[in-house]
Amino acid sequence: MQRRQFLQYSAGAGIGLALFGKRQLWSAEADARVEVFLDESAGQISPNIYGHFTEHIGGVIYDGVWVGADSKIPNEAGIRRELIERMRQIKAPMVRWPGGCFADSYDWKDGIGPNRPTRTNFWEGDHDAQRLHEKGAQVFEPNTFGTDEFMRFCKLIEAEPYVAANLRSLPALSFDQWVEYCNSPAGSTTLAKQRAANGAADPYKVRYWGIGNESWGCGGNFTPEEYASEFRRYTTWIPNYGVDLQLIGSGPNGNDIDWTHRFFEEIFGGPHAYRNKGFKGWSIHHYSFGFHEENGHREQADALNFDKGQWYGILKECDLVESIITDQWSVMGQYDREHRVKLVVDEYGPWYREGTELDPTHIFGQQVTVRDALATALTLDAFNRHADKVSIATCAQLVNNINALFLCHEDKFIVTPNFYVFQMYAAHQGADMLRTEVSAPSLRYSAYGKAETFWGLNGSASRNGKTVTVTLVHPDLDQPKDVQIAIRGGGSASASATVLASDDMHAHNSFAQPKMVATRTLECTVRDETVHLRMPPASVAAIRIQLG
Ligand code: AHR
Repeated sequence: MQRRQFLQYSAGAGIGLALFGKRQLWSAEADARVEVFLDESAGQISPNIYGHFTEHIGGVIYDGVWVGADSKIPNEAGIRRELIERMRQIKAPMVRWPGGCFADSYDWKDGIGPNRPTRTNFWEGDHDAQRLHEKGAQVFEPNTFGTDEFMRFCKLIEAEPYVAANLRSLPALSFDQWVEYCNSPAGSTTLAKQRAANGAADPYKVRYWGIGNESWGCGGNFTPEEYASEFRRYTTWIPNYGVDLQLIGSGPNGNDIDWTHRFFEEIFGGPHAYRNKGFKGWSIHHYSFGFHEENGHREQADALNFDKGQWYGILKECDLVESIITDQWSVMGQYDREHRVKLVVDEYGPWYREGTELDPTHIFGQQVTVRDALATALTLDAFNRHADKVSIATCAQLVNNINALFLCHEDKFIVTPNFYVFQMYAAHQGADMLRTEVSAPSLRYSAYGKAETFWGLNGSASRNGKTVTVTLVHPDLDQPKDVQIAIRGGGSASASATVLASDDMHAHNSFAQPKMVATRTLECTVRDETVHLRMPPASVAAIRIQLG
């Protein structure tokens, strides 16, 4: 009998004791079993899959990242100090900026030097301006935060900048010049001198450049063929100043296979094959909206008001990211046989309807519960499992917007449950991914009158020297789970664990109660070189195992 068959059989039949390695034993009380294979790795987990996204929208930049140098709120040259400190704690490797849809309406020249024009913010066009005025929301873009401020933010937190270029409304030459402003050597070009006058004599050496954003939608409403032609034009000659530029193409709407086929066919398939070796990334956005029928209308899910079915429903929708990764990867491989182009999931997270934002000015601001922490964790686990395919991911968005890690307004600042997930998962950054097999009974639930199922436990693992980190998501709202972890090809000498959980599925942090959801130590023991722990209902755990 194959080991996998036996495992499934033994779990189902409740067999008392099973012997696998020389000494590693599964014991009877296990509800779930995790095998980690020390000698099966798909390679290093790119630290950049733990990246973040900041757009000029609502309260992300203004009120979130930027408070201004004259503010009473503690800051480093205008950037909120508490945010800087928290970003250092999670070893934030990368930040994407300035959008999003905003990027394709942004002129970078407006955001440098002493004279900065006020423009209409992209997001004003999509909303009722009068209503936004009444709410006091950001309708106009003051351009106070521009390239130099963004680069300072990245430097302060030691993160790589990932800049999204405007393909819809600026000419290709302007993109070349933005690269020149950022990367041309000290004292070389007029733009380098301008940069020096703005406080940065040395080049920023920006490597990562997005070529438009959602070019099928807000970024130009192109067909894939039209976008491919624009992509060629924008990327055929970009000054590189010795910097290994990584160019990221605007991928499909959701899992639109057709967009990817037709773009890749244009780029790699025809007689005029594309020659720029810098094309390294294909962007994917995966939001989970939880759309459903409510009182005869199609409604988006609510961040705080949801039932058990909607808890699982959002998790299941987020989990679709794995099939998007594998589907897109397989299409890309039909044209880019060596898979030089990797996947860049540069926007993801549950996206709820309006109403739970902490301040009316925070467009797309929403509360973040323990459900969202599980959603984020299972997404990061999927990225880890596909470390050979996903090179970058940036969570949408960092602060005061969608799946945020931080919520703040004026001098009030809190971390959301998502912050803790990024802290717990930081050990995976740069570690070698290890294949895992998880065996646990599926969950049954009902949503909108329909019977559904979802997995009962899932996760990922990586190795850094003698330490193996295993992260696990346990979505079951009702029952704890006794989990055993065995390391195949080695044994566990000792282990420690951290957990994020709550008895209340709606639990979240607020200005009034900033520590409702936080991590704590989880008891775990090693017996016969196997790690044993009990995961509480609705939890995420990070287990650090020292190899024997
Ligand atoms: O993150 C908010 C918006 O969602 C982004 O600007 C856009 O790229 C996406 O549609």
